[in-house]
Amino acid sequence: MTRHRVLTGITTTGTPHLGNYVGAIRPAIASSQRDDVDAYLFLADYHALIKSHNPDVVAQSSREIAATWLALGLDPEQTHFYRQSDIPEITELSWILTCSAAKGLMNRAHAYKAAVQANEEAGEDTDAAITMGLFSYPILMAADILIFNANDVPVGRDQIQHVEMARDIAARFNHHYGDTFVLPRAVVDDDMAVLQGLDGRKMSKSYGNTIPLFGTAKQLQKAINKIKTNLLEPGEPKDPDTSAVFQIWSAFADDAERQAMREAFESGLAWGEAKKRLFERVNDEIAPARDEYDRLMANPEEVEAILIKGAERLRPQSEALLDKVRTAVGLRSFARGA
Ligand code: TRP
Repeated sequence: MTRHRVLTGITTTGTPHLGNYVGAIRPAIASSQRDDVDAYLFLADYHALIKSHNPDVVAQSSREIAATWLALGLDPEQTHFYRQSDIPEITELSWILTCSAAKGLMNRAHAYKAAVQANEEAGEDTDAAITMGLFSYPILMAADILIFNANDVPVGRDQIQHVEMARDIAARFNHHYGDTFVLPRAVVDDDMAVLQGLDGRKMSKSYGNTIPLFGTAKQLQKAINKIKTNLLEPGEPKDPDTSAVFQIWSAFADDAERQAMREAFESGLAWGEAKKRLFERVNDEIAPARDEYDRLMANPEEVEAILIKGAERLRPQSEALLDKVRTAVGLRSFARGA
């Protein structure tokens, strides 16, 4: 059986919330358990440096994100689970690619363009607060992907462009230096659940409307109680399709249950009761993982050992690829001849 090599990275900034869980973590763990998939999942901690210059935030979120994935059932024996910064070949490759990637390609990156536009709108210098890390970040991301010859890269819509850039960068390199890299493609799950946040907009750290994934049951309950609803009284019919409570509940239920809940809304379920059911449902699903999360957060050396092992197992592969790349571009041992 040919196993498809599937690779994805998680930027280690921020504390995981329910939206991350439903949209990214749960499906990725399910996919990593398939026999026909050779899964690579890594903590993109060099990417975190683009977004945060607070060392404690960077360190803490790496720990939280690693513990989250492990607690939720990611099996490090079955999935390559590692930290980007433990694979030095990634940053070496990134520089080599930087020397052949076109600047014009980077100029077109959405994240960079959005930052320039925000500066212009604020009447600032166009380059204000834009680091070279932000500008060249698609090249680092290309290195992440190409170093392990990934075929498929599951990403959210906002990242498709970056995977296409990785493909362009690889094709250009192959054309000039000879066949070296596998051309990756972005895989976007069209029915990926996008969870609504407390205010009904997409749940996102940047909107400050998230429900934290872990924390105590009480904190979960409190957050759920803050979900915005309307003023309809118990007994008055409520529209499930415009309700964040219903939408979030749905992400934790099957079709038949969803239908039953829809009917309950339409026949006047009270908001307090709907939120109580939402809390119970979410809590039932995540409570076992919460205990394991707390245990792992209290035992960081255990997580550290898992990550170090993950990187050690992969280094022969990244070293071999980098060796090929170095030879291709002319960085060769003098002893080996021309
Ligand atoms: N940039 C991605 C994000 O912000 C994370 C990421 C880094 C990534 N390197 C990657 C995703 C390589 C897929 C493949 O979501």
